Amino acid sequence: MNPVLVSVLLLALAVFVVSECGTKAIIFNFGDSNSDTGGYSAGLGFNTPLPIGRLFPHQPSGRLCDGRLVIDFLCEYLNISYLSPYLESLGSDFKHGANFAISGAATQAYATNPFSLPVQVLQFLRFKSRSLHLLAQGSKDLINEDGFMNALYTIDIGQNDLYGAFASNFSDRINITVNEIKNAIQTIYDHGGKNFWVHNTGPFGCLPERVSLMKKNNSDLDAYGCLITLNNGAKELNFKLSAVCDELNSELENATVVYTDIYSVKYDLIANSSNYGFESPLMACCGFGGPPYNFNMSIRCGSTRSQACSINSKYISWDGVHYTEAANAMVASKILSTEYSKPRIKFDYFCSA
Ligand SMILES: *[C@@H]1O[C@H](CO)[C@@H](O)[C@H](O)[C@H]1NC(C)=O
Ligand SMILES: *[C@@H]1O[C@H](CO)[C@@H](O)[C@H](O)[C@H]1NC(C)=O
Ligand SMILES: *[C@@H]1O[C@H](CO)[C@@H](O)[C@H](O)[C@H]1NC(C)=O
Ligand SMILES: *[C@@H]1O[C@H](CO)[C@@H](O)[C@H](O)[C@H]1NC(C)=O
Ligand SMILES: *[C@@H]1O[C@H](CO)[C@@H](O)[C@H](O)[C@H]1NC(C)=O
Ligand SMILES: *[C@@H]1O[C@H](CO)[C@@H](O)[C@H](O)[C@H]1NC(C)=O
Ligand SMILES: *[C@@H]1O[C@H](CO)[C@@H](O)[C@H](O)[C@H]1NC(C)=O
Repeated sequence: MNPVLVSVLLLALAVFVVSECGTKAIIFNFGDSNSDTGGYSAGLGFNTPLPIGRLFPHQPSGRLCDGRLVIDFLCEYLNISYLSPYLESLGSDFKHGANFAISGAATQAYATNPFSLPVQVLQFLRFKSRSLHLLAQGSKDLINEDGFMNALYTIDIGQNDLYGAFASNFSDRINITVNEIKNAIQTIYDHGGKNFWVHNTGPFGCLPERVSLMKKNNSDLDAYGCLITLNNGAKELNFKLSAVCDELNSELENATVVYTDIYSVKYDLIANSSNYGFESPLMACCGFGGPPYNFNMSIRCGSTRSQACSINSKYISWDGVHYTEAANAMVASKILSTEYSKPRIKFDYFCSA
């Protein structure tokens, strides 16, 4: 068999292998739409219309995707239920953690999105103190002090900061972004957390939305059709974030901060798309306008005139900004491979503590 196909099959299988955490796994996640399992739509009170969610869960869930997100695949690996959004008042299950990620969130609040990373951390602290308070009063099935201590804290934010950074003082904004991620980890650590998993930001200049709106001429593009300046901006953020993770690893006694290079995973997926069985790596499945990007700012995925690719097609981009379930599955399997992490340890490392 073709060696590329073999590795693709092995990768796909990795997602379905289950960790040995047993029932101990607890995750608290912070971030933006890349890991929002419904917080934004719960918070603002709306439903995401089909075809959004057409593969999973076939009904509005607030995930900006055709199906599952990377965090959903990571929960499947841990054999725990998908993370309920902190703001979802009905049907939620917080026995194995909670999701504070909100679509559109950045490390700083802005007019249409107050759910910045520091606010998400405050929500977590409130969640923790209420859990402990209610447990002391005799409530059952809530996470206790040990659970909070041994939980994994995952952070995946920065993409929306890049939008802001390119519209303002870039270097200033990147410094603030990285500093806020550092503060978030420090604050959770000060409140007893010790296991952290940080995703860097993906190749911003490869988002079909960005390329279609920002491309002036072909010299703006790299060999794969991505915007060079925007990708360099993402790399600058990641370079600083990586350094901050190293710093925290040596400063915070007994803590582990794993930095995972999502940029390289996603860039490889786009650059080598056909090896992974994908087509048209820079075209949105769901949008308007057709090739090359199928993106139109005024007719976005989910609006009445938008059109989606057929359900069996293999796109990387779902709506021009967010990845498809098929791409997310591949990203999750790469994360589980440990190959892109520093230090290079398994995703379920926190269970053995
Ligand atoms: C996954 O969890 C379920 C209970 O939720 C359990 O019955 C099953 O054995 C677990 N699978 C593995 C492989 O641990
Ligand atoms: C950003 O931080 C770096 C140090 O990490 C510093 O050299 C640089 O001057 C800062 N930039 C701004 C605009 O504050
Ligand atoms: C960017 O911000 C830094 C720090 O606040 C400042 O020193 C620098 O002059 C600013 N640059 C521009 C172009 O505004
Ligand atoms: C593209 O932009 C570059 C730099 O802005 C410029 O030097 C070049 O002439 C442009 N090429 C075309 C074909 O317009
Ligand atoms: C680190 O772990 C050791 C061994 O469990 C413990 O004695 C020590 O108090 C811990 N330090 C902090 C800051 O938690
Ligand atoms: C594409 O795949 C090849 C072979 O696995 C690898 O060496 C290369 O780094 C990949 N390209 C990118 C941009 O990741
Ligand atoms: C978006 O679609 C509308 C309606 O067809 C069209 O008028 C407009 O030119 C399109 N915009 C772009 C940038 O293609």
